Amino acid sequence: MSPLLEAHGMSRSFGGVQAVRDMSLDVERGTITGLIGPNGAGKSTLFNLLSGVIRADAGEVRLKGQDITRLAPWRRARLGLIRTFQLAREFQRMTVLENLMLAPQAQLGERFWPIFLRPGAVRAQEAEVYRRACEVMEIATLTHLRDDYAGDLSGGQKKLLELARTLMIDCDLILLDEPGAGVNPALMNTLTEMIRRLNREHGKTFLIVEHDMDMIAQLCDPVVVMTQGSLLTTGSFDELRRHPEVIEAYLGRVADA
Ligand SMILES: Nc1ncnc2c1ncn2[C@@H]1O[C@H](COP(=O)(O)OP(=O)(O)OP(=O)(O)O)[C@@H](O)[C@H]1O
Ligand SMILES: [Mg+2]
Repeated sequence: MSPLLEAHGMSRSFGGVQAVRDMSLDVERGTITGLIGPNGAGKSTLFNLLSGVIRADAGEVRLKGQDITRLAPWRRARLGLIRTFQLAREFQRMTVLENLMLAPQAQLGERFWPIFLRPGAVRAQEAEVYRRACEVMEIATLTHLRDDYAGDLSGGQKKLLELARTLMIDCDLILLDEPGAGVNPALMNTLTEMIRRLNREHGKTFLIVEHDMDMIAQLCDPVVVMTQGSLLTTGSFDELRRHPEVIEAYLGRVADA
C-alpha cells in the first residue's frame, strides 16, 4: 500500500530565498511522524505546501495515492488532510463549544458567515454536530470550559482547542506546526496524551513540527530532519541522537543554547 502522504521534489522560493529545495518526504499511515530542523530550515513552508496554503514552484503531493498538488486547502481537507491554525480573532470571541461547532464549515470552505455573525444561532445547529462537539470536548479535556470564550483560554488550552477543532471533521492526517509552543508543562502532558490517544484509539496519523525534543522523543517515529530547505536524514529519535550531522546541524546547537 502506498504511504498516506507522499511529497516529492517540493521547492518554493520567496524572492531570493529558497525556503524549500527539492524536499521529499513520506508519511506512513498510523505513524506520528516528526519533522525537525533549525530555525528557518523550511518546515513551516513545507507544511504550507502540503496543506495547500501556498503554491509550490515544483514538486508533487499525493494523498492516498491521489495527486493533490493543485488542490485548494479545503479540498485537501475533504480528502482527509487537515492542519491546525491559530485561532483567528473572530473565533476568540466565540465560546469553546461554538468554535467546535463551526469548525467543519470553517475548514471545509462552506458558507458560515451568516452563523458566524450571530454566534447564538449556533445553538440551533444540528444535534449531530452538537453531539460530536461534546465527544471532542471530552477527548480534549475542555468540557469544563465549554461556555468560556476562546480568547480567555490559556495558551495551552488554546492549543488543545485548535487540535480539537480538527476532530470535528473526518480526517486521516493531521499536520501540527509547533503544538507545544507556549504550552506550560502540565498542559504539555495533556496535549501529548491527546495526540497519542488520537493516534492509537482513533487511528489518526500525524505529521508534527516541534522544537520541544521531549515531545518529539515521546511521540514521534520516524523523525525527519530538514536543513536549509532539504532533507538531511530520517530515522528514529534514538538513531538521530547519535547521528553526527544531525547533532552538528541541530541538536548540538540546541544543547549549546
Ligand atoms: N512568506 C515569506 N516571505 C519571505 N520569506 C519567507 C516567507 N516564509 C518563509 N520565508 C523564509 O523561508 C525560510 C524558511 O522559513 P520557514 O518559516 O519555513 O522555516 P521554519 O523551519 O518553519 O523555521 P522555524 O523553526 O523558525 O519556525 C526562512 O529563511 C524564512 O525567512
Ligand atoms: Mg516554522
